Amino acid sequence: MSHLQWPFISGRNIHIASAQGACLYNAEGDAIIDAAGGAIVVNVGHGRQRVADAVAEATLQTSYVVPPWMTPSREALLKALQGWLPEHLTQVHCTSGGTEANEAAMKIALHYQQAIGETTRTRIIGRSISYHGTTLATASISGHPGRKKGLEAALPQFPEVQTPYPLRCPLGSHHEDSGAYYADLLRDLIESEGPENIAAFLAEPITGSSGGAIVPPEDYWPKVREICDEYGILLIMDEVMTGFGRTGTQFGYQHWPIEPDLLISGKGLAGGYAPLGGVFGSAKISEAIAEAGFQVMFNTFGGHPAACAAAAEVLNIMVEEDLVNQAAVKGSYLHERLQHAFSNHPHVAEVRGRGLFAAIEVVQNRESLERCSIEAAVTSKIVAKGLSKGVFYYGGGTGDVRDIICMGPPLVISESQLDQVVDTLAECVDEVMSTLA
Ligand SMILES: Cc1ncc(COP(=O)(O)O)c(C=O)c1O
Repeated sequence: MSHLQWPFISGRNIHIASAQGACLYNAEGDAIIDAAGGAIVVNVGHGRQRVADAVAEATLQTSYVVPPWMTPSREALLKALQGWLPEHLTQVHCTSGGTEANEAAMKIALHYQQAIGETTRTRIIGRSISYHGTTLATASISGHPGRKKGLEAALPQFPEVQTPYPLRCPLGSHHEDSGAYYADLLRDLIESEGPENIAAFLAEPITGSSGGAIVPPEDYWPKVREICDEYGILLIMDEVMTGFGRTGTQFGYQHWPIEPDLLISGKGLAGGYAPLGGVFGSAKISEAIAEAGFQVMFNTFGGHPAACAAAAEVLNIMVEEDLVNQAAVKGSYLHERLQHAFSNHPHVAEVRGRGLFAAIEVVQNRESLERCSIEAAVTSKIVAKGLSKGVFYYGGGTGDVRDIICMGPPLVISESQLDQVVDTLAECVDEVMSTLA
């Protein structure tokens, strides 16, 4: 055994020996249903031979080529991306993950505003419950106090607007005016900062694990799109968690009649088979940046040939097996089962999400929405209990928002496995909450 410590800070260290379909297997061969799809990543399931073959082929063909150059696997990815991206997003910048993709998009938005002569537009608005990455800029703009702890004094400041949280809307839970309420907060913030100072607005269409699959009110996104257009602000949609089929549409924003100016992806783009992130933008943006003589610098491993090969094959499988639709159909089944298990549960405030991205919010009191104490550590207890019963759930929350249990299983999961995911979760919640009473 090595003296080296993995991970950097010691904690729970589970050994996974192999994975297939919707399951992980430990060294003893016990199955764990991967209800989290890793970190809400795995879409076509584990252990796909044809993805492994495509990666091996690309590795032999072009082990490494600088990111701006073309290779067969990069061509395959561009071909596979057709039919996924909206027509105006023709420019592709690949990174090695979601953080880098968000960071690149923030810089592209700032560059664009400078390039078109909007030189005072140097601020990007983020939201109060959100996660965009690990770098100083992406961590700063994230509405995730837990992940900023100890860094606060060193982080650059970004203006922040409230994330829609219909369950806890100050007007009342799921109030009919909540969409207008949250959109107006954005307008107010833009006005107080000065619209001439704002370059972009960065947000997830459906809030990821930081909030636990929070779906905004129906009229929120159309109103936000209008506000961004009115003030000349770019809308950057972080689809790292929601993109490429997870929510039952190709992208999360497609649940509403809007389109983003910059679309960001990661996770599901390569289905967990390789590290890859993507920034997709319009020719209008790239041409302005080029004319101004600015650079869109690559990461050495951005768009790595093996990662592009994996993504191309994953996207082909997604289409051949109709997995976006499967996410919608199986998602309905999962939500029905979750509603049945939890809609009257004294310690579950609500079930939420879209498609195969779902979450429950566990609370001390369903009526008052009072949260459990931080010390009670409900999320980690439920996740640990789930693992002991053979299901891996993804713990969510930001510290302030807490006791969120997320599910984002591989889109190939079966109904009987979904039954097990829900039944086990009900047992875990009951067992953990009974120890707190
Ligand atoms: C919405 C969202 N954006 C960005 C990221 C960061 O991506 P990565 O961990 O690949 O750097 C994540 C990761 O969880 C995410 O969920």
